[in-house]
Amino acid sequence: MVSSQHWGERKLLKKIRVEDLRLGMYITEFCGSWVEHPFWRTRFLLSNPKDLKSILNSGIEEVWIDSSRGDDVSSAAASESMELFQGRVESRVGKVAVAGDHLQSSTMEDELVQARKILHLSKNAMAEMFSDARMGNTVDMGVACNIVEQISNSIVRNPCALISLSRLKQADEYTYMHSVAVAALMMALARELKFDEVGVKEAGIAGLMHDLGKAVMPLDILNKPGKLTEHEFGIMKAHPGQGGEMLLSQGIPADSVTMDVCLHHHEKMDGSGYPHGLIGDQISTLAKMGAICDVYDAITSDRPYKDGWDPAVSIQKMMSWSGSHFDPVVFQSFVKTVGIYPVGSLVRLSSGKLAIVIEQSEGSLLRPIVRMFYSVNRARKISPVVMDLSRPGCDESIVQRENPKDWGLSDVHVLCFGEE
Ligand SMILES: [Fe+2]
Ligand SMILES: [Fe+2]
Repeated sequence: MVSSQHWGERKLLKKIRVEDLRLGMYITEFCGSWVEHPFWRTRFLLSNPKDLKSILNSGIEEVWIDSSRGDDVSSAAASESMELFQGRVESRVGKVAVAGDHLQSSTMEDELVQARKILHLSKNAMAEMFSDARMGNTVDMGVACNIVEQISNSIVRNPCALISLSRLKQADEYTYMHSVAVAALMMALARELKFDEVGVKEAGIAGLMHDLGKAVMPLDILNKPGKLTEHEFGIMKAHPGQGGEMLLSQGIPADSVTMDVCLHHHEKMDGSGYPHGLIGDQISTLAKMGAICDVYDAITSDRPYKDGWDPAVSIQKMMSWSGSHFDPVVFQSFVKTVGIYPVGSLVRLSSGKLAIVIEQSEGSLLRPIVRMFYSVNRARKISPVVMDLSRPGCDESIVQRENPKDWGLSDVHVLCFGEE
């Protein structure tokens, strides 16, 4: 029988220093860098002295414990505490967390290193979660919250790194990486739309879980290396409803954001979507966000049967669908989030050079930071040069989007990220 304990119970979480950790306490989260702590699962009853020793030796300084599931600590030892019910913060006492090192802004180059690790671990965690869901086991929402926390921190440090890396997917990991990518896009968009912190995290969880129903879709259809037949597409169309039922059985409330996005991320503004054919504002803002993030990640990702579209070309195409498929106002905010020329886009500059967008600039959506690598006029490669098109006095500008295929470029990501 499927348990709903992860969502149904009230929890009392306390942040304590590792020196105050004792056997018998229930750990729910390690503070600091997730990628460096010694355990994969972050929620467990601390009963093994070896585990306590590993934590003390790991460099982790603080952890969150749940005193409703294990031994408590004296209130003086907790630097922060909060009460949670069904995943929502009900009350919070003690000092509010200040931005620590893990939230200091970082360069694209530095954040790509972190983002790579976070994506790798998140993908594996999602694979496990889908497998649990497929077998009817309880899905560990603590793991989902942990993934969302790490993605959120990465986006705060650098808004583009993780999102641009998450487009790169291997065929066998598509569904899991897609869930992680949509979670990241949802959180970046929620920030642009000025959601509060709880709202941003809810949008992230919803993104992570939006395709949970795919866990029970026939694998031969889900992983088919080609276009689906009408019959197969009919079967796949059941995944929002199936996902909704699975979420309910996990104790996730019917009126939650997660449920809404899961059920309605394939609805379209003109009523031509599924499963309910909702029209316009019958679709919630969260579901409208879900639809945009879902399509953007799907069309920009490589699949076994088709190469992903260039990100800037994708934005242009989606703009033309705005109004019929997407809410134009939400879409505008999405463009502000990823850029008119998102990281990874191939563009031609006014001097006739080809360049790849490697970072958004603070100043202008139209003038990102690019790496020039080819002279069209001279028909030959040039030594790569990085240029911030928004820099005062810069006389280069983007004149058009380019299709990497037209230039025989299959390794745009190498040009963009500098390595395989
Ligand atoms: Fe979907
Ligand atoms: Fe999806």
